[in-house]
Order: sequence, then C-alpha cells, then structure tokens
Amino acid sequence: MIGKLNHIAIVVPDLEAAARLWRDTLGAQVSKPVELPEHGVTTVFITLPNSKTELLHPLGDNSPVAKFLERNPAGGMHHICYEVEDIKAAAAKLKANGARVLGDIKTGAHGKPVLFLHPRDFCGTLIELEEI
Ligand code: CO
Repeated sequence: MIGKLNHIAIVVPDLEAAARLWRDTLGAQVSKPVELPEHGVTTVFITLPNSKTELLHPLGDNSPVAKFLERNPAGGMHHICYEVEDIKAAAAKLKANGARVLGDIKTGAHGKPVLFLHPRDFCGTLIELEEI
C-alpha cells in the first residue's frame, strides 16, 4: 500500500541554525524558511536526491509542534511521510486493520491530501500518508 518515502520531518528549536547545519555541515540543498500559518509551522525544505527532509518550527499560538518542542527542547524526529496512491482507500484499510487514523484527511504542506496515524500503533512513530 505505501509507496515512496516522501519526507522525514524534524522539529528544531532554531530554524536558522538548523538550516545552516543541513546546508553547511551536511552539504544539503536547503530552501528559505516558508511560513505555513494554516499548519502552524515554519518550514525549511531540504531536497535530497531520493527524498526530502523538512525542518519544522512552531508558528503562532496553536502550533501542532509546540508541545513536541516543549518535551524535546533540543528538537527531534517528528514524523515520517509515505506516499499512497489513494488516501481514502488507505484510510479505510488501516481502520479495518485496527490502526487509529488521527482526525480527518486534510490538505498538507504540499497541497495534497494527507492523514496521520497514531504513533502508538506504529512502534512510537507518527506516520503521515500523502496522496500522490
Ligand atoms: Co509532513
């Protein structure tokens, strides 16, 4: 059902410092910070030959990553995103297999439909599915 790894998202305490690390120390291709107010995050997109990494920092009062940063002040891996061809079919199959889908299908940072799966059902890892 799942296809390519679309991205790995990392929450960081200092977006500028993290962007420098990935650009200068790791030699990656790094975007300027992009504010996504509807998602409550500012993001730096890192383009890799086979996938992406996204650096996330809370934006606004109700950021979905603010609590994560409180619990992990040095930052940390937040979620991994796999591509699926049909997100509604994927959600139905996952629910039928007892996995918990968090909330409804939403429009993600790339303008495509996404959903999130409960980390307790996947070995402590928050999984995002994105329809491609
Ligand atoms: Co994501």
